[in-house]
Amino acid sequence: MDKLFAVLGDIHANIDALEVVLADCQAQGVTDYLCTGDIVGYNACPHECLEIIRSLNCPIVVGNHDHYVSSQQNLEDFNPHAAAVIEWTRQQLSEDELTFLSNLPFVTTKMGITLVHATMDNPEGFGYVFDHLQAESHFTHQVTPLCFHGHTHCPMIYEKQIGAVYRIDAQDFKLPIGRKYFINVGSVGQPRDGDPRASYLLYEPKSRKVRFRRLDYDIGMAQARIRAAGLPERLAERLAVGQ
Ligand SMILES: [Fe+2]
Repeated sequence: MDKLFAVLGDIHANIDALEVVLADCQAQGVTDYLCTGDIVGYNACPHECLEIIRSLNCPIVVGNHDHYVSSQQNLEDFNPHAAAVIEWTRQQLSEDELTFLSNLPFVTTKMGITLVHATMDNPEGFGYVFDHLQAESHFTHQVTPLCFHGHTHCPMIYEKQIGAVYRIDAQDFKLPIGRKYFINVGSVGQPRDGDPRASYLLYEPKSRKVRFRRLDYDIGMAQARIRAAGLPERLAERLAVGQ
């Protein structure tokens, strides 16, 4: 059977979105999973999401929220909403779960594919890639032809040819040979590109095709969980608008 990868990340403790995504993966015939990190943070089901992602037994890189929750990071410089959720999430997870998160690598490679949460030019710094210059900095450190990432919560493809970086706006794309690709798979649990539907990516190595998937899920339920947990209202509101 030909391999079909599902690449998912920025799940952010949103169990309602994650369950819909995994059901779609099964329906699409996914054989392997890759995770670009940020399993926890922002939403109300960190334990449930972590349990499911761990059960996939797949390569995972650490996201900034996974890192902050599982380290003794001082939260004084964080905005109050972010700090509140990190503190709350720390309380929800067991020692074993916190240890699991703290042991995740910043970068990993599987079958010639690199995974990083943010960028390769400084994986531990969690910088954002929103433009060509930032993508160019990343590409100087990308060794493999293909690298998947997340962090901005905005699906995006950057292509590196000799001497130039291009952004490619496509939902389906066949990766030509001889170029490098840096692909943001979007966010399962808190999309920020104006489209509130859950996002992930399918990659078929044999045909070299990538395909973004966007899926409706029960946003009202995810919002109700945030409110019931006493997390900031802003986190519930933003799910409805994809910001
Ligand atoms: Fe994130």
